[in-house]
Amino acid sequence: MQLAKFFDNAADTWDEKVLHDPAKIRALLKKVPVRPGQKVLDVGTGTGVLIPFILRQIGGAGALVAVDISPRMIEKARQKCRDPRISFLVADIEGEIEDPLLPESFDIIFCYSVFPHFSEPERALKNMHALLSPGGRLVVMHSDSREVINERHRRIGGEVGGHELPAVEQLQELGRGIGFLPLAAEESEEHYLMCFEKSSESTFL
Ligand SMILES: C[S@@+](CC[C@H](N)C(=O)[O-])C[C@H]1O[C@@H](n2cnc3c(N)ncnc32)[C@H](O)[C@@H]1O
Repeated sequence: MQLAKFFDNAADTWDEKVLHDPAKIRALLKKVPVRPGQKVLDVGTGTGVLIPFILRQIGGAGALVAVDISPRMIEKARQKCRDPRISFLVADIEGEIEDPLLPESFDIIFCYSVFPHFSEPERALKNMHALLSPGGRLVVMHSDSREVINERHRRIGGEVGGHELPAVEQLQELGRGIGFLPLAAEESEEHYLMCFEKSSESTFL
């Protein structure tokens, strides 16, 4: 739970220190559209940076579960985002997933700026695979390049010092091994995007 403490300590100043470009987030979400009425899981929601973007897309009939290992992050997100469509949950996506808020029926799961922090990425992927409904999608995305992210973690050091985002090809193979079908794999100086589907019948985005 050291990581949870690290993010608990960062929660109060997160939104002042970590700036996200809304245009970049919107551009990424265009590539992996969320449809009205869908049920979405935001893994590693932090202070809920992604939440307003998702709410705009799911419409009145959709639902969003925002999960984070850090209780303080969830508290901050809860204070910022009051909406009956959202449920907040403190949980470790790499742990035993047995919570009524996490039925195995999500249409789309987002891991926005969280994947490098998984100590057992395969376990996290397996859990997320189980939480998707057939045809559901898992999106791993960052609005910076892999190099920038990995360098940032090295610079911060301590708890996150060795946390590395794998190359999309590596993540693609990891996902395939679990039974995911890769739909999109992109890396650039601007972003990182990997999209998987749970079922076996699909075409590229
Ligand atoms: C770098 S922050 C990103 C937060 C938010 N998505 C954003 O972009 O601002 C990573 C978040 O993932 C959470 N996290 C890390 N490992 C996790 C796990 N195994 N299960 C759930 N949340 C986790 C951390 O507590 C932290 O809030």
